[in-house]
Amino acid sequence: MKHLLKLMDCSAEEIKSILDLADQLKYERKHHIPHRHLEGKSIGLIFQKSSTRTRVSFETGIYQLGGQSLFLSSRDLQIDRGEPIQDTARVLSCYLDGIIIRTYAQKEAEDLAKYGSIPIINGLTDFCHPCQTLTDLLTIRGKYGRLKGLKMCYIGDGNNTANSLIVGGLKMEMEVAIATPKSYEPVKEILDFAAAYDGFTLTNDPKEAVKDADVVITDTWASMGQEEEKAIRDKAFAGYRLDDALMENAKDGAMVLHCMPVYRGKEITAELFEAHTDEIFEAAENRLHVQKAVMVTLMK
Ligand code: CP
Ligand code: NVA
Repeated sequence: MKHLLKLMDCSAEEIKSILDLADQLKYERKHHIPHRHLEGKSIGLIFQKSSTRTRVSFETGIYQLGGQSLFLSSRDLQIDRGEPIQDTARVLSCYLDGIIIRTYAQKEAEDLAKYGSIPIINGLTDFCHPCQTLTDLLTIRGKYGRLKGLKMCYIGDGNNTANSLIVGGLKMEMEVAIATPKSYEPVKEILDFAAAYDGFTLTNDPKEAVKDADVVITDTWASMGQEEEKAIRDKAFAGYRLDDALMENAKDGAMVLHCMPVYRGKEITAELFEAHTDEIFEAAENRLHVQKAVMVTLMK
């Protein structure tokens, strides 16, 4: 594994080994066992969108691994004034040992990898959010002790979060059920990938998707870059809110996850969110451990 651009590029074994390493790094951090695997390395974070969790967990993770992080807002780089990604990739490869990129087009992350010579990690694009799914998988495995055979259900927008959950869940032999409104289904590339798996279902009926689920996941109805569509989306997604009544259809004690930020009263009720904060904030913490594992795997 050279980069983490999307989970479709990773084998099940690679995903499992990242999760195992994340558990080990989590244990070591808890017991104050140093793990300075990135001593002397400099890692850049190119961010073209806002972030709380991704930015802070990567930057603190790099520090804990003994490395140096450089936060490179695209506003401050020459990218914003039109310098092509091909040149940025080649120049930054001379100075850095790895890059985390958060941007709009998946192609930009792919081009950074193609033209540069250092490992690239996707910290979210419009197409996918692989670090988030690896984290969700670690959190689910932490509760159930396994992934294989569990039913993961995602309700809401067929967006970056959904795309990665579908690929990651299916690769780990989970059953994956998605419910979106019409016209908000995941993109064809993801549906074509999922079509090869018996365990995949796509429906417009949230009740059907959530039936007997072990874990139920949602995300914002309007992702970064879609702010102007908020009013239309609020209408389209009105029947897709996670609430106690919908959760009645899931297995007893089912987990609820949300990558955050959370819009209470939209994709999830405040009550349901508050009832599952243990799991949701554990997942937020796990971003740190998982991303450290990804960096160690790619950059050590
Ligand atoms: N879940 C997530 O990626 O959060 P941030 O946008 O705050 O990084
Ligand atoms: N789907 C959301 C995820 C935020 C972490 C977005 O892209 O804005």
